[in-house]
Amino acid sequence: MKGHSSPLHSGLNSSQIETFQKDGFLIIPSVLSPSTISSLLCETHSLLDEFSIEDHPMTRFSTGEGGEATEHVGDDYFLNSGDKIRFFFEEDAFDSSGALTRPKEQSINKIGHSIHTLSPAFRSLTLSPYHAALTTSLGFRNPLVLQSMVICKQPHIGGRVPPHQDSTFLYTDPPSAVGFWYALEDAGGANGGLSFWKGSHLRRGIRKRFVRKEVGGTGFEDVQPSTWPDDGLKYEKEVTDDAESPEGQYGLAEVKAGSLVLIHGNTMHKSERNTSGHSRFIYTFHVIEGAHLYDEKNWLQPGEVSFSRLT
Ligand code: FE2
Repeated sequence: MKGHSSPLHSGLNSSQIETFQKDGFLIIPSVLSPSTISSLLCETHSLLDEFSIEDHPMTRFSTGEGGEATEHVGDDYFLNSGDKIRFFFEEDAFDSSGALTRPKEQSINKIGHSIHTLSPAFRSLTLSPYHAALTTSLGFRNPLVLQSMVICKQPHIGGRVPPHQDSTFLYTDPPSAVGFWYALEDAGGANGGLSFWKGSHLRRGIRKRFVRKEVGGTGFEDVQPSTWPDDGLKYEKEVTDDAESPEGQYGLAEVKAGSLVLIHGNTMHKSERNTSGHSRFIYTFHVIEGAHLYDEKNWLQPGEVSFSRLT
């Protein structure tokens, strides 16, 4: 983070708020200094070096496109990660016999989901006056931080993330999630960067949520009728079911290392597989409105510590 005298600490200006409300996302360039980026990457590599696979359940991360790995996102290692630092493998890091095809530190898809409380470097970045100011600009009254993670998107095997809305995975009633997404390395078309369906937050309510199933594990549950934030934007309240996401609607965002992307929880976004030889390390966390209902059905539960208040 740049110095405390930075104008960044005053939150968003009116033009930035307008862009966020119109597009459903906002890219803020050069928020992190090169030295901050270096220290966050150094911390990430230390975490990757230090974790042991001796007693690891080899849980893989999948966003639900099917396949064997999908079942693993319902295991206890995943479900109880809300207040811990845990390591989830790329689906394609294994050979047909289930053995890793590369060193474990190059096989991890993501580290989560409470880096912002347990890693001093990520904690001081996340629970900062700057982020509190941003949430004030976005209209939060009681902003709570949850689901922090480093996503590694490893060279050649970094998994695709299909189109989704973040409020599906961090459901409040009404929806309120906003994603804070920092590029720690340049992220773009070459290495599986973000693509957005610009303006989709205004026409797509939250239609499903990712829950803990009563029989165990996780799954998607319909939300009917679809739900919308109460933040005062002019939502068009869809009348037709355009559940499919037309590929032509998505625009790639080229995001330089150190930039922050704010993502409205109703905005459709995705990222492609990383087929390049370069990793795509990013850090992301989410903020929800603490005044809204976050119930026990949500897959992510706070565990022994509550979600972190931004002040
Ligand atoms: Fe997302």
